[in-house]
Amino acid sequence: MHITDIIIKKRDGGRLNKEELEYVTREYTAGNIPDYQVSALLMAICLKGMDENETEDLTFAIRDSGDIVDLSPIDGVKIDKHSTGGVGDKTTLIVAPLVASLGIKVAKMSGRGLGHTGGTVDKLESIKGFRTSLSKEEFFAAVNSAGLAVSGQSGNLAPADKKLYALRDVTGTVENHSLIVSSIMGKKLASGADGIVLDVKVGSGSFNKTPKAAKRLAEAMVNIGKSAGKKTAALLTDMDVPLGKAIGNALEVKEAIEVLHGGGDSALVTLCTELAAVMLYLGEKGSLEQCRTMAKDALTAGKAFDSFVAMVKAQGGDESCIYDTRLLPAASHIYPVKSTAEGYIVASNAKEYGKASLVLGAGRERKEDTVDHAAGIIIEKHRGDKVKVGDVIAYLHTNRKEAIAEAAELILSATEIGAEPPESKPVIQGLIL
Ligand code: URA
Repeated sequence: MHITDIIIKKRDGGRLNKEELEYVTREYTAGNIPDYQVSALLMAICLKGMDENETEDLTFAIRDSGDIVDLSPIDGVKIDKHSTGGVGDKTTLIVAPLVASLGIKVAKMSGRGLGHTGGTVDKLESIKGFRTSLSKEEFFAAVNSAGLAVSGQSGNLAPADKKLYALRDVTGTVENHSLIVSSIMGKKLASGADGIVLDVKVGSGSFNKTPKAAKRLAEAMVNIGKSAGKKTAALLTDMDVPLGKAIGNALEVKEAIEVLHGGGDSALVTLCTELAAVMLYLGEKGSLEQCRTMAKDALTAGKAFDSFVAMVKAQGGDESCIYDTRLLPAASHIYPVKSTAEGYIVASNAKEYGKASLVLGAGRERKEDTVDHAAGIIIEKHRGDKVKVGDVIAYLHTNRKEAIAEAAELILSATEIGAEPPESKPVIQGLIL
């Protein structure tokens, strides 16, 4: 088999067979095909597309490029959750303990934040002592004792995706339906859970700008998950505006704890309850309606908070900052961004809010950057709220005094104020079972 023939075949609109896609994935991962040839193939895929069979074959080749995690040392049903990424998305911190408190095991491998989006590992590391780098044995023991654990991604999970994603990032080939589906599902299928719930984001803060593209992506991922023998479902959810009120690591942990105590922002609570309900449903805990009720009741009864504490303890974190969130990292400067106009907030562009939080120190521009766990934003006025001149739209939290002016400018230009209230947009826009 020759890589040049495969590139030419796709360039001319042909369909690649399983053997060809396995060959490229295997040999590229092994370092036997150079970046420039795979770049050409990726661009040909972007221009000519791939059909459903090709997308599935590439997904399975990515899954099989490294270790497939064997979760059998963990008792019970294991359900995973994956978000396509967003701003203020702290749902894992709430949903994982919530379903664990109801008997579903969550053995979650999560990533770090990059660019305008955050990552669960960074958020948890704002808890003093919390370890996200666990050996396999420690990971299994933590899930067996606490019902859940969150660790950083293992070294040899879907290594083909690591190489392919890095190459796509620098060759303008990230935004392709089949490449996104195979990248996400290749990793998820290698993570070993019995079922997967996908939170597919739609809107300015996600890579799906239209509901149609998000729906197509979600349907394709659900079909591939099922075809691999996993129970799979997807929610389509709003990421036009940041999720909840907090953006930034320690601030998001604090907000998650509020929800685990039965309070918190209503869109965040609605989304977490629905994600948990679908995970419980895939874990055969009851009908979808019964699972919704179970999830709501567990949040209000504080059961989910107890599971969160158990996870923090099992992973070496200091539980005192969970009981008293004033002990979490705090910024030296808190600065109010005030409205310069009167009216209704009609848009709070999620991506731009994410960028402002990055400027304040909460995220990383490059993989090697370190994050400031204390930095971030607390949103005071969300889409639909009425504001007067001088009302605080958001508070900026930072240890970088010099970043305040730029971040404040970003927030003001990302917040659109109009004379009429906007049409309300539900956080949950669809469910694919
Ligand atoms: N997230 C992934 O893991 N892969 C993509 O291609 C896009 C988002």
